[in-house]
Amino acid sequence: MRTIVEILEQQIAAAMSAVTGEEHCPAIVKPTADPKFGDYQANGAMGLAKRLKINPRRVAEQVVAKLDLRDICESPDIAGPGFINLRLSPGFLSDRLLETRADPIRLGIEAVSTPQTIVVDFSSPNVAKQMHVGHLRSTIIGDCICRMLEFEGHRVIRQNHIGDWGTQFGMLIAYLREENPGLDEAGRVEIQDLEQFYRSAKTRFDEDPTFAETARQAVVSLQGGDSLSLAIWKKIVDESRRHYQPIYDALSVQLTPADERGESFYNELLAPVVADLLDQGLARPSDGAICVFPEGFVNKEGDPLPFIIQKSDGGFLYATTDLAANRYRRETLRADAIVYVTDARQKLHFEMLFHTVRAARWTDREVDLAHVTFGTVLGADGTPLKTRSGDSIKLKDLLDEAVVRAGEVVERKNPDLPAEQKAAIARAVGIGAVKYADYSNNRTSDYVFDFDKMLAMEGNTAPYMQYAYARVQSIGRKAADEGIDVDGDLAGLSRVHLAEPEELDLAKHLVRYGDTIKAALVDYHPNYLTTYLHELAQKFSRFYASCPVLAADIDQRPSRLLLCDLTARTIKHGLTHLLGIEVVEQM
Ligand code: ARG
Repeated sequence: MRTIVEILEQQIAAAMSAVTGEEHCPAIVKPTADPKFGDYQANGAMGLAKRLKINPRRVAEQVVAKLDLRDICESPDIAGPGFINLRLSPGFLSDRLLETRADPIRLGIEAVSTPQTIVVDFSSPNVAKQMHVGHLRSTIIGDCICRMLEFEGHRVIRQNHIGDWGTQFGMLIAYLREENPGLDEAGRVEIQDLEQFYRSAKTRFDEDPTFAETARQAVVSLQGGDSLSLAIWKKIVDESRRHYQPIYDALSVQLTPADERGESFYNELLAPVVADLLDQGLARPSDGAICVFPEGFVNKEGDPLPFIIQKSDGGFLYATTDLAANRYRRETLRADAIVYVTDARQKLHFEMLFHTVRAARWTDREVDLAHVTFGTVLGADGTPLKTRSGDSIKLKDLLDEAVVRAGEVVERKNPDLPAEQKAAIARAVGIGAVKYADYSNNRTSDYVFDFDKMLAMEGNTAPYMQYAYARVQSIGRKAADEGIDVDGDLAGLSRVHLAEPEELDLAKHLVRYGDTIKAALVDYHPNYLTTYLHELAQKFSRFYASCPVLAADIDQRPSRLLLCDLTARTIKHGLTHLLGIEVVEQM
């Protein structure tokens, strides 16, 4: 099925065209905020009237006269200056609900007819360092974007652009060779050791010119392909991978080593990129370095701002790698769109990057570029989340603590469950809580990381949603105990009876799921999904409080069971498929 907004927009746009003879008439259909004005509102008449310099209310009236939405809506109203208000008819709702039920995999939501190839660059931690809470956001927001795009039917290519190249590796390699000679044979390094080595290496680099020179040489030999340096480097990368892969798995993030295209991957492509930009006249030497001066970028003094792509010593930079990666994604991966997920501090970098690659015209196809930014995770004091000693908090420690705390909640609520089940619930709730709390905030805002709030059973939290799901599921179990054949009830249902306001309200929310996903994808906002799911759980609660289900009359019971069934399916789909948060059958 196409979504309701799509159907309405198409029909209304056609009527607008018929009235005005204009070809493109955006109908601009949105769910209304206030049910007083119906369920959906078309706002296009005003813009059209303004463009044609005619009375908007007149346009709306003529459009409504031309509209035939009998199968979908009650007769439309016109409000204010020319809003067209639409109320779904019970017959249409019934059909939608039955069709949703008939398609357990996609819940009746059609895939796009022209799938695109979309590269999503996310997570991208830096090798030899533990992932910190800043990487949490890129990792899970990126994962959710991939899941939503895939569900829409696009071909998604995940790219983990790990920071695995550059001068810091020279220091590390030189340090490991000098201080830890056994290491290049079979000896393993732990990620904590690497972090310590890196700190010590940095100290030596700053204090000891001979060591600094060795380190610089190590970079050159690494980038030149020297086998011993490469072997040590590979050990460092492997160890880092052993650190972050389990974190991805714990977070149910769909990233594997196969998605890795670290900075090192582009080593051979950097010099050609610089040469090409010089050739095209887009880059030029400046103070010994090579720079692009993207149009419109100036510093405080009003001087052109350089996008430096090669240093005076010949070294390449973060910008060069990103240029090469962008080119690879266009030319080799054949991307139609590329989405980058990083914190907002990299905004300028990506603006300059986008500007440069658009000018470079590496493919004749338009490639859509998006920088999806996010704010900072804060501690209770409102400053970026840190440990007591002021270090950045390791993501692993944070997740471990979430699971322990969730375990305490489960213990209080349900002490008699088998230990294994309690542990599984604690994992689902703990990890789910951290992820959900992040998703439920508008991604561009900073938010305060607060275990108590995210683990609360009330409010827009994972445990509340997981509990809501478990509660709906318990109705099925209770039905079985009472000898009610739910499947039989549902199979015999040919028309969903929706009489009570709470039933209608829930039904109308259920049929909005597909439109919600589309809206969340417009600007990549996972919080649209969490808000939708939270409202769904609340509407279900109100329905369940006022409409008996198992005790209902036999002509009402199947319809109510259907509402329960679709609520459970939708919550489960949203949580597990799109947000990567587990549900539990019992809590
Ligand atoms: N490694 C970088 C960091 O930790 C993020 C890389 C983002 N992706 C990119 N193509 N620049 O900040």
